[in-house]
Amino acid sequence: MFSQFGKNFIFGTATAAYQIEGGWNEDGKGLSIWDKFAHTPGKIRDGSSGDLACNTYHDFQTDIEIMKSLTMDAYRFSISWSRLMPEGRGAVNQKGLDYYDRLVDTLLEKGIRPFVTLFHWDTPYALYEKYKGFAGRETANYFAEYALLAAQKFGDRVKDWITLNEPWEHAMMGHFLGEHAPGLKNPWTYFKVAHHQLLGHGLAVQAMRSARRDLNIGVTLSQFPVYPASFEPSQKEMDSVEMADMFINRFYLDGVFKGKYPEKLFARLWPIVPKILQGDMATIQQPVDFLGVNYYSRLFAERKWYIPFLKTWIDRSNSDERYAHPVLGVHGYPEGFKELAKRYREEYGNPAVYITENGTVGGEISDKNRIRYLTHYLSSLREAIDEGSDIRGYFYWSLLDNFEWNSGLACRMGLIHVDHATQQRTIRESGFWLRDLIANQESRR
Ligand code: FCB
Repeated sequence: MFSQFGKNFIFGTATAAYQIEGGWNEDGKGLSIWDKFAHTPGKIRDGSSGDLACNTYHDFQTDIEIMKSLTMDAYRFSISWSRLMPEGRGAVNQKGLDYYDRLVDTLLEKGIRPFVTLFHWDTPYALYEKYKGFAGRETANYFAEYALLAAQKFGDRVKDWITLNEPWEHAMMGHFLGEHAPGLKNPWTYFKVAHHQLLGHGLAVQAMRSARRDLNIGVTLSQFPVYPASFEPSQKEMDSVEMADMFINRFYLDGVFKGKYPEKLFARLWPIVPKILQGDMATIQQPVDFLGVNYYSRLFAERKWYIPFLKTWIDRSNSDERYAHPVLGVHGYPEGFKELAKRYREEYGNPAVYITENGTVGGEISDKNRIRYLTHYLSSLREAIDEGSDIRGYFYWSLLDNFEWNSGLACRMGLIHVDHATQQRTIRESGFWLRDLIANQESRR
C-alpha cells in the first residue's frame, strides 16, 4: 500500500528564512539581497515583501505547536546568513545566534528533528556590494566561514544540514534572468555563480566536518525530468532535451557526485563557462551524506536556433493534452519521482535521498486538489522506494503560506493558511490528511 513508508522514514515540512521570518532589520540583522530586491518597486508581482511575512522571528512557538499537533517528525528551515553575520563575514550577531538557539531548542523539546539549510538565496548585501555575491569566488570562502560558525554553535543539537538550496535557481533566476534577487540579467555571470556556489558547498562541508564528525551533510538540488516539447520529437529536439538536462540537472549532480561538469555542455557553451582552478572539482566532490531533492514538475525543451548557445527554449508548460496528467492536469507529473530516483540509482551510486521540497499552489482551506496532489506524488515516491531507492524522508513545501519570492504573499503553498494581516493560522484539510497518513504509519502504531 502506498501509505506505508517504512520504519525510519520521516515526514516534515519546509520553509526558508526570508520567506517566513520578517524582522528584516531587527536586532542587528544585516541586509540581504532579498531585502533590497523586494523593496525595489516593480520586482514583486503583488507589491508585497518579506518585511513581516509570517512573523516567525517574533513567534515561532505557535507554528511548532501546530507541527507537533500534526505529528511531524522533522522541520526544514533556513538560517538567514545576514542575521548571524550582518556583513556576511567577520562580526557575529549574538541576537541572531540567540534566535536560532531558541528555535532549535523548542523544536527538540517537542521532539521535532531540525534540518537546517545554510543558504536559501539570501546573500548578505555587503557581499553582493563587494563581490556580486557568488559571482565572486571570495563569497565561497566566506560561506564556508559562516557554515563553520553555524556548525560550531548549533552542531551539538542540529545533526542534519543542507549547504545550498537549489543553486541552479539562484544562478539562473537571480543572475541570468533577473527575476529573483539580485536581479541581474547577465549570462556571463551565470556559470560563475553556479560554480562558486558548488565550491562554497565543498568548502563548507570540509569546514563543518573539521568542527564535528557527527553531522549529516547534504546539498539540495532542484530536479526536473526534461521532455521534448513535441510528442514526436526530431533528432535536433532530442539534442535540446539533452542540453537542457545537462544545464539544469547534470551540471550540479555531476559536480557533486563525480567531480566534473558535463563536457558536451561546456563544448556548446564555451564562451560563458567559468574559470575552474586546480583543485576546485575535488573540493566540490566532497563525500556527502545525502542528496536533497526538490521536485515539483517536469520541463519541456524545444529547439530554437535563436537562443544563444543552448539553442533551446525551456518551458514548464505544454499545451499538448497528451502531456497532461489525468487528474492533476498539465503541471502534474508524479512519475518524475520514479524517473529521478532511477537515475540516482543507476548513475549516481544510489545515494541516500531526502525529498526536501514538493508541493502545490492553492488557497482554499478545503484543499482537495492538494490532497490529490499528495496522493499521486507520494504513491510515486513509494514506488521509487520499492524499486530500490534509498529515500529517507519527505518534506512538504510549505508549512505556511509565505512570501513566494517574486510572486509575493499572494501565492499560497502552505499546509497552513496564513492571514498575513492578522497572522492568524488555519490548518488546511491537507494538513490533517498528512497528519493521518503519518499516524497510520506502522512504525507509529
Ligand atoms: C523552490 C524554492 C522554495 C519555494 C518553492 C515553491 O524553488 O526552493 O523556496 O519557493 O520553490
